[in-house]
Amino acid sequence: MFDALARQPDDPLLALIGLFRTDARAGKVDLGVGVYRDETGATPIFRAVKAAERRLVETQPTKAYVGPEGNPVFLDHLWTLTTGEAGKGRATAALQTPGGSGALRLAADLMALMGTRRIWLGLPSWPNHAAIFKVAGLEVVGYPFFDVPSQTVLFDRMMEALSGASAGDAVLLHASCHNPTGANLTDDQWRAVSDLIAARGLLPLVDIAYQGYGRGLEEDAAGLRTLLSAVPEALVAVSCSKSFGLYRERTGAIYAACGNAETALSVRSNLASLARTNYSMPPDHGAAVVATILGDAALKADWMAELETMRQRITSIRERLAAGLSARWQVLTAIRAQEGMFSLLPLEEADVMKLRAEHALYMPASGRINIAGLKSAEVDAVIEKFLSL
Ligand SMILES: Cc1ncc(COP(=O)(O)O)c(C=O)c1O
Repeated sequence: MFDALARQPDDPLLALIGLFRTDARAGKVDLGVGVYRDETGATPIFRAVKAAERRLVETQPTKAYVGPEGNPVFLDHLWTLTTGEAGKGRATAALQTPGGSGALRLAADLMALMGTRRIWLGLPSWPNHAAIFKVAGLEVVGYPFFDVPSQTVLFDRMMEALSGASAGDAVLLHASCHNPTGANLTDDQWRAVSDLIAARGLLPLVDIAYQGYGRGLEEDAAGLRTLLSAVPEALVAVSCSKSFGLYRERTGAIYAACGNAETALSVRSNLASLARTNYSMPPDHGAAVVATILGDAALKADWMAELETMRQRITSIRERLAAGLSARWQVLTAIRAQEGMFSLLPLEEADVMKLRAEHALYMPASGRINIAGLKSAEVDAVIEKFLSL
């Protein structure tokens, strides 16, 4: 019976990790990986996470089920962290989820359940976005977001496309640190798109997966907050994988900002029922860690300080890469102003393969690079490799 299944293609990024691992050349560099790395090439555990874990080992009273909704203290703290004043007092349905991916999947299932037919997705986007929405039965419609050759956001074309959306359609927006382009909307553009979404009766789904990696914790959530203040209803998918370095602990949340408390209760019950028939309940540990950190002034301050150090490391590598690469490709000065871990270089697939074969420089065929995959000591050599193309 299993023969009825067609073999699925390997995930290209996972395949790339395997290729990199088996490359024996000295000086190989992995720009493909989707995690933060420090100057030693490690993906560190935050000091505050370690401290919170020690505390939890000592104080956790039980391993009994947490329930489909997850940890309410975590949910409250995370909502405040992401939405600030804009989220205060808002009637909200909240559910802890297995990572940001779990949040996006629950959002997609909820939309399918309530009859949302289409979701508009800016292109290019994180490949799992379209995959998640499609498997939930939504029609995915692309809108132009970023032009790779000129490294610019196609805001006018985005607005024109969204003007053709029908009332009730959903729109996916990246809060900040866009994956894969690093390009983000300006404050004015957030205001304009928020107004358009409100005027046309669209449902925004904001994916916030890199808060603190771009311009700062508050700044990276500013667009989301502008939007929340402008629209009657919104979905917000939060991932703690990058911001708290909790990747494997599968920590995230889905929030639905609703028009009133009664609607919020109904949405919450539907989210809980979708979770219950899927994975039943979220894992406890990561959310307990985040709740401990955000509920303790000293741990929170230490987490913020470490996150800021990481952000600054990415920014300084961005500056050096932009300066080095723009000597040949003027357009790549844009890398400096882009934010977060990723940029999408205007490379042909043949260039990507040449860099891999001749220079042991690894990135996916799309040309997406993870700036945080670079150590300072490697930047000049990597620029040379690019310039040899
Ligand atoms: C844009 C974006 N959203 C959501 C996620 C989901 O992250 P996770 O499921 O690991 O929390 C990622 C992970 O790479 C991402 O890049």
